[in-house]
Order: sequence, then structure tokens, then C-alpha cells
Amino acid sequence: MQIKEVAERLNTTTRSIRFYEQKGLISPGKDTENDYRTFTENDILRLSTILALREIGMSVKNIKGILENPDMSIKGYLNIQRSALFEKWIEMKDMINTIDQMMEKTNSEAFSVNQIFELSRHLKNMKKLRKDWEDKWNFDSQAEGYDQNIKMAGYRFNVHQDYEKALSKIKETIELHPNDICVDIGVGTGNLGSKFLDDGVRIIGVDQSEEMLKVCQEKHPSIETRKGHFLALPLLDNQVDGVVSSYALHHIPDSEKLLALEEMTRVLKDDGQLCIVDLMFPDDNTRAEVIEPFEKQGNAEAIYAIEDEFYANQSVLVKWLTANKYKVETHQFNDILSMLYATRE
Ligand SMILES: C[S@@+](CC[C@H](N)C(=O)[O-])C[C@H]1O[C@@H](n2cnc3c(N)ncnc32)[C@H](O)[C@@H]1O
Repeated sequence: MQIKEVAERLNTTTRSIRFYEQKGLISPGKDTENDYRTFTENDILRLSTILALREIGMSVKNIKGILENPDMSIKGYLNIQRSALFEKWIEMKDMINTIDQMMEKTNSEAFSVNQIFELSRHLKNMKKLRKDWEDKWNFDSQAEGYDQNIKMAGYRFNVHQDYEKALSKIKETIELHPNDICVDIGVGTGNLGSKFLDDGVRIIGVDQSEEMLKVCQEKHPSIETRKGHFLALPLLDNQVDGVVSSYALHHIPDSEKLLALEEMTRVLKDDGQLCIVDLMFPDDNTRAEVIEPFEKQGNAEAIYAIEDEFYANQSVLVKWLTANKYKVETHQFNDILSMLYATRE
């Protein structure tokens, strides 16, 4: 297809298309004789993704980072568009809530302009948190070897001790029925979500890593994979019957974990259930007690593994869930691994 027709069909201008070409975001083939550009289906998909991301205010530089892979599949492009739109939608909802709160406050006599500043600071912080998370572990590069690697015990510390037991425990604990919708956050290669497929449960696997989603999709075609992250789940409000997650929450800092629980609550139906297995300590004292012997033994491998990630303080999560009307049960598998099962009261 020629540039003029592409511009017309995508509701843009030939000038914008040339601009994205100049910036290296697209590279349509060019006729060597007359320099006319020819757009393939892939160029058009890429361009429509660029336009959607620009529409929500993403910079050309960030788009370039996201669209690094020139051979992404149609699903990959659409997944990126959906995830970005959800992020924007959640941001808009936050803004509307903030304005509602401001309006309520204007009714009170104690209202001062400082409250407006405080609320807009809150908005800015939320936006920053959603945008700033970085995959410092490079899960894209781990995707192919992930299933093999979790079977190998570490030299002096094994984070995957009780892995199978823990995933099976989630399956045994959460009560899901045929046609229920359950989201598996940080789905990875689908080891947890796939346990529910034989029961007719519809599993939506969310992950920030496209490569993990690709492996998951190859292994378990019935899992619907969606790009997204803990603080901006690509799901509507009150949409799912269950939220499950294994070995993923410890990749976000403690300051964001409660926001992640809030986001899970947003997508859960009123009678929904939440079941999370992760690396966590019952509380800060236990954390110190577990780390102390490693220090005495000079077990740097264990200390590095714990400190490189964000093992949760379970008591903080339980306190938040209880305050938000969940009934919570916990189960500890070993010193560093526990499960939280929460149901709405
Ligand atoms: C250790 S793997 C666990 C995978 C799988 N749940 C399992 O139990 O085998 C962690 C997964 O969480 C994903 N992840 C990490 N941080 C995330 C975030 N903020 N939002 C969504 N997924 C995240 C990673 O991309 C990776 O696939």
C-alpha cells in the first residue's frame, strides 16, 4: 500500500508517517527507481501501534524502546496497544476520583488550596509509579530457559524450594468453577494458570514480559495472554472471579505492594477470591532471624538473593487486606515462602 492510502486509512497525515520513518520507528520498503514507499501489513500494524501510543501521550523515544522487535506478531502489537490504553484509562479514573474528592472537600469549611496541591501530588506520584517500574531482572531473556532453571537448586540457597507444592496448594485452596474468570498476574510460562484449565476456568495471564507471554502461549494456547503489570492490570473493574499469582509480587518494591493489592481488588468481583504465593517473611523480626544464620555462615549467595528482590512483610499485606474487608488465611511452606488466601467478607 502507498503512503497516501495508509495515511487516509489510519486517519493520519503523510507528514506524520514520514516523521516516524525519519525517527527510525518504521522502515517501509522504497522503490529504487521512484522512491515510492510500500507499506506491508506489518508496517501498517506497527504504524497503528505508534499512533495509538502517541494518542495517549507517549514520547517517540519511549515508543522506540517498546517497539524494539521489528518482527512482532499481530497479537504482540495489539497487546501493547491494549496495555497502554488500560494504563491511560486507569490514570483517567484516578484523575476523576481525585476531582470528586476535591469537590467534596470544597464543601467543607476547612478546605484550603493546600489540599488541592496534596491531591495533585498524589496523582503525579501514582503516574510516576506506574511508569517507572523497570525489569532489572530482564525476564524477556529468562523466558526460554525458565522452566528448566526453576528445577535447578541454587548452590547454597534455593528460592524454588517447594515450588510445585506451593502452586498445587493454590489450586487446592481457591474455589473456581467452570467458566469463572481468573487472572494469573506475573503468569510467566503459565505453570500456575494452566492448573485450572482442565476445570473449564478461563485463565487470563498477565505479564510485563512479552517473551514470557510468548512461551506461555506456546505451551498453553488456551490461556489468554495480556501484556500488563501489577499497577495497571489490563482488565475492567469487577471483571474476575479469582486473582492468583506465584513468585511475582516480590519484583515490586514494598511501597507498591499495597497499590498492587488495591489494583487486584479493583478487578475482582465483590465475592472474588485472591490467592498469592510468594517469597515473604511473616514480619521484620522473622526476616532478621532468617538472615542472621546466613550472615554467620558467610552465605553471600543467600543474602544476595534476598536483598536483590523485594520479599514482602506478610503482616503488612494481611493488615491491608483485613482493613479492606477480606478474610485472610495464610500458609507457610518454608522460611521464605508463604501463601495468602483472601476472600471478601
Ligand atoms: C519468577 S517469574 C514467576 C512466573 C510464574 N508465576 C511461576 O510461578 O512460575 C516472575 C514473573 O513475574 C513477571 N513480573 C515481574 N514483575 C512484574 C510486574 N510488575 N507486573 C507484571 N508481571 C511482572 C515477570 O515478567 C515473570 O514472568
